[in-house]
Amino acid sequence: MQSTEAKRWGQKDAGMIGGGCLGVGRVLCCLALVLACAGAVAGETLRSAARGMFPMGVGISDRIGNLTNDWSLLTAQFSMVTPENCMKPNPVQVVEGRFNFTQPDAFMAFASEQKLQVVGHCLVWAKDDRTPPWFYREGTNEASSALLLERMKKHIDTVAGRYRGRVAMWDVVNEALDDGTNYLRPSGWSKACGEEFILKAFEYAHAADPGALLIYNDYNNELPAKREKLIRLVQTLQKRKAPLGAIGLQGHYEIGQVPFKDIEDTLIAMKKLGVKVVVSELDIDVIPRARWWADGGKHREELAKLDPYKEGCPPEVLRQQADDYAKLFGLFRKYAPNIARVSFWNLHDGESWLNDFPWRRVNHPLLFDRERKPKPAFDAVVRVLVSP
Ligand code: G3I
Repeated sequence: MQSTEAKRWGQKDAGMIGGGCLGVGRVLCCLALVLACAGAVAGETLRSAARGMFPMGVGISDRIGNLTNDWSLLTAQFSMVTPENCMKPNPVQVVEGRFNFTQPDAFMAFASEQKLQVVGHCLVWAKDDRTPPWFYREGTNEASSALLLERMKKHIDTVAGRYRGRVAMWDVVNEALDDGTNYLRPSGWSKACGEEFILKAFEYAHAADPGALLIYNDYNNELPAKREKLIRLVQTLQKRKAPLGAIGLQGHYEIGQVPFKDIEDTLIAMKKLGVKVVVSELDIDVIPRARWWADGGKHREELAKLDPYKEGCPPEVLRQQADDYAKLFGLFRKYAPNIARVSFWNLHDGESWLNDFPWRRVNHPLLFDRERKPKPAFDAVVRVLVSP
């Protein structure tokens, strides 16, 4: 497992004073709880409420430096940030050897000024439509596995090396497990190298930045069939002594359908394997989207017109969402010693990717609304985190 030089990522909330369950801060939190008014628990933020358990993070727009209206919400509530897109292989090295660091550098500078820790995302995205095509090619032929790995090494050395010592955690490999019956997702990576490319990515990332917590990140990997593959991958990486630091459960859920038992079973399984977990991209869609992929896509025309909450999200839906979030954070709290971070995917409802994917609709998946005001789900989460 990973040996760390400086455990950057191990701080439960670097920005808070008096962290730890029994500190002065905690006493003040309890006082705040007693004084709780009808709305939010007075004075609590996500980062203060989660102090001593796990750092609270959020995936944010690459253009955060210009979004000045977001800054106070961001820094009050969160201590870690993930750039939503600008560090991915596609924008960074869309043409071989021509690296573009304009946005990542600006992002890193912003995070440093605001004293926010950074989660790098992601060094390898094991999906063909997310990998610049040149990676896979050698002239008119497919690249050999040796060439693919050489290119991967150069990419990781250059990107992780550039920010060495300044990134707390890296999503090293993203979404390599198959959703169907295969073990690995079919891709140029798995076709040429089998699972070896995953091992190598971790080795290269560790060499480039030995202090960063290195993460394997995926979606639906708490569901039983994919969890089995995840366990197999973790065991293989452990056997090969890969510097795997944590598993990322992306956590893109749908209202009323959060797989609580599967999540708990996965948290237990990872604990048994001795590997930490990060919840890396949490949100709860209030307009369930699973039907988009069902029955060969035959519901898409109808769904593309579905936009039920464009005038606002009804209170009963917000309540259900709050209940779902509360139950989730109850679980995260229960397994907090094995959870290295909980991050949302986007800062507020107006910025969520779920307004555009898989069809355009006005969505409400996060804890803050379009005015950046806390929703019932925010209160529910804080209450769970600070309850005795
Ligand atoms: O910036 C262009 C804009 O100029 C253009 O007009 C527009 C037209 O489509 O596209 C814009 O780029 C989009 C970009 O988001 C910025 O909004 C891309 O098309 C779109 O593909 C891209 O989607 C991102 C997606 O990853 C693919 O990279 C989402 O923002 C981002 O939230 C999403 O994040 C992923 C995580 O990386 C991995 N886990 C799942 C998660 C959600 O899909």
